[in-house]
Amino acid sequence: MVEVRDEYGAAVAPSRDESLHLDDLAIEGGSPTREQFLVFGAPLLGPEEIDEVVDTLRSGWIGTGPKVMEFERRFADYVGASHAVAVSSCTAALHLALSTLGVGAGDEVITSPLTFAATVNVIVQLGATPVFADIVRETMNIDPESIERAITRRTKVIVPVHFAGQPCQMDEIMGIANRHDLDVVEDAAHAVGAMYHGQKVGSLGHLTAFSFYPNKNITTIEGGMVTTESSTWAERIRRLRLHGLSSDAWGRYNSSKLTLSMVEEPGYKYNMTDVQASLGIHQLSKIERFRRRRRKIAEIYDRAFRPSPYLMLPSVISGIRHAHHLYVVHLNLDTLKVDRDRVAGALLAENIGTGIHYIALHLHPFYREWLGHRRGDFPNAEDVSARTLSLPLTAGMHDQDAKDVVSAVRKVLRHFRR
Ligand SMILES: Cc1ncc(COP(=O)(O)O)c(C=O)c1O
Repeated sequence: MVEVRDEYGAAVAPSRDESLHLDDLAIEGGSPTREQFLVFGAPLLGPEEIDEVVDTLRSGWIGTGPKVMEFERRFADYVGASHAVAVSSCTAALHLALSTLGVGAGDEVITSPLTFAATVNVIVQLGATPVFADIVRETMNIDPESIERAITRRTKVIVPVHFAGQPCQMDEIMGIANRHDLDVVEDAAHAVGAMYHGQKVGSLGHLTAFSFYPNKNITTIEGGMVTTESSTWAERIRRLRLHGLSSDAWGRYNSSKLTLSMVEEPGYKYNMTDVQASLGIHQLSKIERFRRRRRKIAEIYDRAFRPSPYLMLPSVISGIRHAHHLYVVHLNLDTLKVDRDRVAGALLAENIGTGIHYIALHLHPFYREWLGHRRGDFPNAEDVSARTLSLPLTAGMHDQDAKDVVSAVRKVLRHFRR
């Protein structure tokens, strides 16, 4: 029998190929690749998390208390940091990290335009000015050379974003920070479990912010963490996360003598609850297993899509351990008749949820107007922005789910090829 190979070089079973007529797309009335919708970024929660939440609910203490403290201890231990402070989100973590460093009016904070709004919104909320530095197209991480070019005498902090779970070039970034006397706050929303030269993200920069949002590598539904080596910063963040009070409710309850809680500085309401920490404690204990599973799904995609005329896979730098938070492909739009949004829409109809990470921030109406940016200012981020598509990647996916994604992507790209 003659072996049939598709454009990807993969063997194609003739019967399956016959079913892929050009008018076969679900978006055009054909049958979808799979019956059940594959949710993009679904969490994986087990009975341990549920039992712990019930235990907390029954304990009589559901606010910030012993379980938050335990989660913090375990998290600090896991990443190898001296301090971990749990908060209500990564947005809160970034806000508090920058506040603690005294970022305010007149300061500039350098970050990537290829990030979620939270990274940049908190800079604006502190009265400072975000300054974008373009990314390296292949890794989608901030380019150290662009950082260097963006530094002025107003620059106070650099915020690298470990995009998709791949650490940034931290040696270069810390070198720049040291030379210019700047602080580094890492946005590690994607990077729980990632390593750089054998060291976990969370123990590299001055302050690191993590996210436990439902689609992240571990979840507390909403939640975040700041890690640092500095006890002064950790203490200040602990105070600022709860109105700037000298002690929290658990501290007062747990004390044998009357403790008055005094406002030492006006803080925020960013504390994590024991119910959330109940999830976090067990999610954290599964993180290595989750990461291995994510890597396995990523390998299925790697094998299926390398090489392909229709899409490019992101590069991985050497000396790192990827957290495999996102599997991002870049569509080769020159080989397709449609844009990325049409491809994502067609995959949706095939019952495959995808994500777009991200539309570069300087192209959003607020930042375009407020910072006076135009298309062309950050060409690498813009290029990625137009082509990027994130395929489902979760610890709960079965091999067959990944194979369905591969089939749907092939079906859609074949249909739309030039
Ligand atoms: C890169 C990045 N930074 C920050 C955040 C904000 O995280 P959270 O939703 O926990 O506030 C996200 C969330 O998706 C993110 O992807």
